[in-house]
Amino acid sequence: MKREPLIDGHGRLIGDVRISVTDRCNFRCQYCMPAEGLAWLARSDVLSFEEIERIVALLVSMGVSDVRLTGGEPLVRKDFPRLAGMIAAIPGIEDLAVTTNGFLLERDAGALVAAGINRFNVSIDSLQRDRFFEMTRRDALPQVLAGLKALAAFPQAHPIKVNAVAMRGFTEDEVLPFAAFAREHPYEVRFIEFMPLDADHQWTPEKVLSGEEIRAIVSEVWPLEPVQREPSATAKLYRFVDGKGTLGFINPVSEPFCSDCNRIRLTSEGLLRTCLFSLNETDLRGPMRAGADDAELEQIVRDAVWRKELKHHVNEPGFTQPARTMSQIGG
Ligand code: 5AD
Ligand code: SF4
Repeated sequence: MKREPLIDGHGRLIGDVRISVTDRCNFRCQYCMPAEGLAWLARSDVLSFEEIERIVALLVSMGVSDVRLTGGEPLVRKDFPRLAGMIAAIPGIEDLAVTTNGFLLERDAGALVAAGINRFNVSIDSLQRDRFFEMTRRDALPQVLAGLKALAAFPQAHPIKVNAVAMRGFTEDEVLPFAAFAREHPYEVRFIEFMPLDADHQWTPEKVLSGEEIRAIVSEVWPLEPVQREPSATAKLYRFVDGKGTLGFINPVSEPFCSDCNRIRLTSEGLLRTCLFSLNETDLRGPMRAGADDAELEQIVRDAVWRKELKHHVNEPGFTQPARTMSQIGG
């Protein structure tokens, strides 16, 4: 059944949903989780595969065409490739992506590609083992690189995106190694500005290493040429004059792209969030488990989306960091 497009109160058409399939994670990245971990949700509080499938199908009937599966770490959810296959089978999805820390990719890359995932983002913050450990609190770089290699063997998985969160005092030394990595491999290596979504509340404006600063470091060594993108693309993309891959810059703090934002998010317990920095959320699980039909769910979604925030207020006086960490939202 086809429904009216999903539109917010500022006239933005919603075409993209990020679904967190679990709040659990096997890493403890400094910019996301505390070292000791977080209290996980009870399994019965997490949406079932069928509940996720139902919500995605409803959103797709309202014109959402891009779906990203995330976590926590999505690959720690039991039978995750089966869920990926269920979502891929929903008619109308044009783009089905997964964001992963890569630790379990060596095991699951084949199953996920076979299930119909056509885009992958693998998070890697350093190419040096000890510094990777410092950032993620897991000595897992060799395992993650093995996962990336397993994935890269599938032509359907390309172009693969590699995401590095950029933090001042850490990432400066990673910039040239990552640029060299992107020259050697056909990957899109993207630097993401550090956002205030960390459990430890260590974020300050000074800790944001901006995309422009990183681009300047690279440009001194290897000239970069801009690549044109559609307006809702979050990353500014550059190619090397002579290199296989590309470099992307996601600058939500220094150059917010809220006016072109076409995204909504669903947490693993079924709360709809209309912004990474939302201070309120809309429960879909409660009504669903109480027997709401699709028309009722549609109305709940529309009302929430209508109130989607105009923009985030990071870096403005009075900004309040959401209580949830990135792992509890879904990146
Ligand atoms: N700021 C920016 N990016 C973050 N991520 C997690 N926490 C933050 C943060 N505080 C990124 C991860 C991953 C994706 C899920 O979100 O590196 O690529
Ligand atoms: Fe886990 Fe991803 Fe958060 Fe790192 S950023 S702790 S991999 S959810």
